[in-house]
Amino acid sequence: MGKKLDAVCVGAAIVDIPLQPVNRDMFEVESFPLQQISMTIGGDAINEATIMSRLGHKIGLMSMVGRDAVGNYIMEHCEKNGIDYSGIQIREGIDTSINVGLVTADGERTFVTNRNGSLWKMTIKDVDLSRLGEAKLLSLASIFNNPLLDCKALVQIFQEAKKQDMIICADMIKARLGETLEDIREALGYVDYFFPNYDEACLMTGEEELEKIADKFLDCGIGHVVIKTGKKGCYIKSQDGSVLEVPAMKGITAIDTIGAGDNFASGFITAILEGKTLKECAEFANVTASISVQSIGATTGVQSREQVEERLKEYYEQQKGK
Ligand code: ADP
Ligand code: NA
Repeated sequence: MGKKLDAVCVGAAIVDIPLQPVNRDMFEVESFPLQQISMTIGGDAINEATIMSRLGHKIGLMSMVGRDAVGNYIMEHCEKNGIDYSGIQIREGIDTSINVGLVTADGERTFVTNRNGSLWKMTIKDVDLSRLGEAKLLSLASIFNNPLLDCKALVQIFQEAKKQDMIICADMIKARLGETLEDIREALGYVDYFFPNYDEACLMTGEEELEKIADKFLDCGIGHVVIKTGKKGCYIKSQDGSVLEVPAMKGITAIDTIGAGDNFASGFITAILEGKTLKECAEFANVTASISVQSIGATTGVQSREQVEERLKEYYEQQKGK
């Protein structure tokens, strides 16, 4: 049976405004000039949707925005990138979330966010369960990012996805409200591919060794635990006990790792959709992410499929040569 979409991404679509370079003495002057202040697309669901669409798949986005200029900017971005955004709900009386990033010259950073913005207000009501099944695969990006999408909401979404025979992928960020592994155990039981990064995974499991971390997640019923290990690449342990460690692209100078995890997930999911093996999925993910860390912003690096295929060839050359 053909489905209309390859994947649907559920989660945050917001705007980032990076302010750089700032410093602690800013308040001493009346006006503090910067080279550039502009909106960029942010939020892991829209980041993933953007990259997967550029990699050649039909992607839907389910999110929530306010009726404002920022919301319009997000829709325009989707339009430009060929993303089906008919699943983005517009809610009256809500401001679309804006994430202001303050970054010093030496890379210290902090974020100023709106506690009442769309990201914090998105609920299960903003996810049209009756339309989930239009896609073959669901990507929940990311667990904990929209705090009102709690375990109960996630279970509802995942149950519906399973009813529709969908593959379920999920990423996570650090818990915002002190949630523990127990709080999301039931939801994780539905996840086929889980993409935490190493630091998040340590915090959530209380373990430091990759295998022990993975075992704690596998114990929740996850199919494949894919731990992103930064410049090392990734570590995968599956429900059948098999382990894979897949190296990152070498010789990369990372200038901005924001969104690297989203690009990794996008590459991985793209490869799943194309029926590649688990190892090939991890390779494709590492290669996609390696491009993203070389430019500032989450969706500025990866622009086309050709670019990733080119890099993939270089990656396999490296592997042969080692
Ligand atoms: P997150 O962005 O979620 O914190 P990581 O920092 O682990 O996740 O990075 C995600 C992926 O980005 C890694 O698994 C790897 O594939 C790639 N990556 C990150 N840093 C580098 C690097 N210096 N060189 C090559 N690839 C990198
Ligand atoms: Na991430």
